[in-house]
Amino acid sequence: MKRPILLVALLAGALFGAWQSAADLPYTLSGEQELTLPDVTEYRQWPYMGTSMVPNDKNNGKAIFPGIHTVYISPRALRMRREKGVFPDGTIILMENHHVNLKEAESGFGYFTTGAMDLMAAVKDRRQFEGEGWGYYLFLDRDLKAGKKLASLQPSAACRSCHQVGAGEDQVFTQYYPSLKKEP
Ligand code: HEC
Repeated sequence: MKRPILLVALLAGALFGAWQSAADLPYTLSGEQELTLPDVTEYRQWPYMGTSMVPNDKNNGKAIFPGIHTVYISPRALRMRREKGVFPDGTIILMENHHVNLKEAESGFGYFTTGAMDLMAAVKDRRQFEGEGWGYYLFLDRDLKAGKKLASLQPSAACRSCHQVGAGEDQVFTQYYPSLKKEP
């Protein structure tokens, strides 16, 4: 008699735990590890992490992700990173890659955008992903324009391998985000 009760209690605990953490997560993963397209109006209100720019004309026309990179991080993840120095499970970092379409404006010669962008994501969840626990996702501009709402997990060679080698900390290029250090 004791065992079924224990089993029910364990099951209820597991279900409640799963429900609770899924509800708290700032992203949605399907059973096949597909990422639901994050809501642009929501994540653009998240803390800003940094900007880099990788134009084609400084890379022999062949930059890997040519454009202006703007990075946002989910709010709890930034708090944990600042307080405890770690990116917790449940972190999502989003990078918009704005395509450069114009090289001259009223302010001068430079790099200007007209709205096209790819959305790149790094999700930390050690229950889902191997190694340090990061999964990488990519919504290309054409996917976004076609209304695509799910992205599949990128193969390790496409994203993780470079992040493992060059990133300052835990596969994140912390060296390029001074804003991680303290409240600006
Ligand atoms: C050849 C190296 C390289 C590859 C391959 C690469 N990245 Fe990155 N990634 C970087 C660098 C360097 C930065 C930070 C500077 C910048 O914006 O370019 C970065 C930044 C990011 C960020 C912001 C958070 C962070 O870790 O700094 C995300 C999200 C991201 N990349 C996703 C991806 C995805 C998704 C792929 C695969 C489709 C990918 N990356 C492939 C080098 C790479």
